[in-house]
Amino acid sequence: MAKQYGALLVGAGGMGKAWAKNLTAHADRVKVLGWVDIREGAAAQAADEHELNGIHTGSDFGKALAETRPDFVVDVTIPEAHRDVTLQALAAGVPVLGEKPMAHSMDAAREMVAAAEKAGLLYMVSQSRRYDPRLHALRQLIEDRVGPPGILNSDFYLGPHFGGFREEMESVLLLDMAIHTLDAARFLCGATADPVSVYCDEFNPPWSWYKGAASAVAIYEMTGGLRYTYRGSWCAEGRMTSWEAEWRAVGPNGTATWDGTGAAPVADVVTERGGFFPGCQTFPADVDETMPRGIAGSLLDFLNALETGSTPMGECHDNVKSLAMVFAAIESSRAGQRVRVEF
Ligand SMILES: NC(=O)c1ccc[n+]([C@@H]2O[C@H](COP(=O)([O-])OP(=O)(O)OC[C@H]3O[C@@H](n4cnc5c(N)ncnc54)[C@H](O)[C@@H]3O)[C@@H](O)[C@H]2O)c1
Repeated sequence: MAKQYGALLVGAGGMGKAWAKNLTAHADRVKVLGWVDIREGAAAQAADEHELNGIHTGSDFGKALAETRPDFVVDVTIPEAHRDVTLQALAAGVPVLGEKPMAHSMDAAREMVAAAEKAGLLYMVSQSRRYDPRLHALRQLIEDRVGPPGILNSDFYLGPHFGGFREEMESVLLLDMAIHTLDAARFLCGATADPVSVYCDEFNPPWSWYKGAASAVAIYEMTGGLRYTYRGSWCAEGRMTSWEAEWRAVGPNGTATWDGTGAAPVADVVTERGGFFPGCQTFPADVDETMPRGIAGSLLDFLNALETGSTPMGECHDNVKSLAMVFAAIESSRAGQRVRVEF
């Protein structure tokens, strides 16, 4: 029988509660030992709501670590707190599964990666949108049918009215959302393609209800010369794309597309050359509907890594490259020029 791992949950906001449900839904593999939030009483109230009776609750993370002695910490605090929570857990000898984005700055992210190395422990970022069988099917279709892509495009156009902090923050689209799409782009480019440079223009259309830039256009160069273009907006009402974005990958043998919805990705593969346009055959992707999705997928990936020593998606050395794409895009837009993506 697989080991049951003890978890300490940090952060009792909206996403912390989603994680409590996720952890309790995997009770055969995980036991929630404690829940902490800096807001006095918030963790105890959330534990009550989720019928997590008798677990440690409080506002002091150090005390909770010492009292519960967990096998891992789940960090679902705000991005500005991710560094401190992660460093404290790793220093206490505890692996961390943390929410995206890894950190609020590249300096903080580099410190966290170094701390994981020093401790010799796993620090993984839960980049939940990677756990989508359609995205995996698109990657496989590119690899099997299209060949190494030289062109990759994504379009992300939604008009959500969140209210609250998002409507006040700077670079809202790039900082709060684009990390998912940029991370998916890295995944589609294949294991050996890293971001090299970016030219980005962030802007806020006149009708935007956000204070910060809610739209951006960016051109990334990846190793091998692939160009990835990101176009996105969070103030685009009507004819919306899905949250997964709309994708096109072009390679030596043809083109694969996915509209980001429930429909399977498809590829047109060249079968006959010589005419004005080539003859093509269309291949749908094979979608593995049994694959665990979202944060259930990242939890199982993390537990499997603890058990077997495998490297999960979102391991910090890999995930920091997606974060670097976000910060380089913001830097490029402010400088008005192409910049290198440093990680
Ligand atoms: N993967 C996804 O699709 C997805 C969706 C939503 C949110 N998130 C991420 O989850 C994280 C949390 O988001 P949220 O919407 O729950 O935010 P939230 O503001 O609702 O909750 C954050 C909680 O963390 C607590 N907190 C802050 N600093 C703390 C600290 N040092 N120690 C303990 N508790 C602390 C706050 O009091 C608050 O209760 C963010 O990083 C966010 O980007 C991911």
